[in-house]
Amino acid sequence: MDLNMPEISRTQFSPEDIDVEISEIKDGIYRISGMVDMYGITFNQFLIDDERPMLIHTGPIGMYKKIEAKVKEIIPLQKLAYVSFLHFESDEWGGMAFLDSADAKLVCSDLSSKLNLTGWYNVPADHISFWDNEVLKTGKRQFRFIMTPHVHHWDSMMIYEETTKSLFPSDLFIQPGNNKPVISEDLSESMIGLYRGAGIFANEEPVRRTTRRLIDLSPNMIYPMHGSCIENSTFSKYTDAIMKNDFAYTDMLLGRKLESIS
Ligand SMILES: [Fe+2]
Ligand SMILES: [Fe+2]
Repeated sequence: MDLNMPEISRTQFSPEDIDVEISEIKDGIYRISGMVDMYGITFNQFLIDDERPMLIHTGPIGMYKKIEAKVKEIIPLQKLAYVSFLHFESDEWGGMAFLDSADAKLVCSDLSSKLNLTGWYNVPADHISFWDNEVLKTGKRQFRFIMTPHVHHWDSMMIYEETTKSLFPSDLFIQPGNNKPVISEDLSESMIGLYRGAGIFANEEPVRRTTRRLIDLSPNMIYPMHGSCIENSTFSKYTDAIMKNDFAYTDMLLGRKLESIS
């Protein structure tokens, strides 16, 4: 793919800055994670091995080469069949331009397709998209797409791998810090603090509606994009925190107050 990219990188994350680690969480699902100190959170990618493997999130372009190297430790890159992003942000799929796997298909929500992947100059347009509850089979596994509008973007979705009951909720249930790949501690208070400081949700209501739906799924393992993976036994701490606390935007954006709003 030749995008005529300029020599200078447009990313704030340079590959030398960030150590990227890989660990198998469970059932052939790998977490590829790097700590980004400027935000105080890890950026996690997930490789799900199967007959047609999938990578969920690529990381931004500056991190991608290190992530790609970890993918290659598990599968030949040419075997990678799908790269999924869950909303239109650079940590979700900014690395895609450097993807050397010619056959890998970009996967997104129907809203991402209609709103964000069409109508641009110089944005790769070849992709497949899914509406709520549609399913993609990759061999033994079955991925169900869950549209989650306004959690935190209009085009947001999540992915649920049904054979292992694995939930990929993107920026929901995230925690700060660089902790173990899977934790049993309750970091839900830190999660709420992170949401209040970053201002990523306009309103609690769509988040709570989605959370109720996720509780009904009773996932065995939750794979947030930032922070550690959460087992089913601790999941209720995080869902309770979402239900009981206010965390929507109140003039704070990425830790900085927007003073012009009274
Ligand atoms: Fe995001
Ligand atoms: Fe994110």
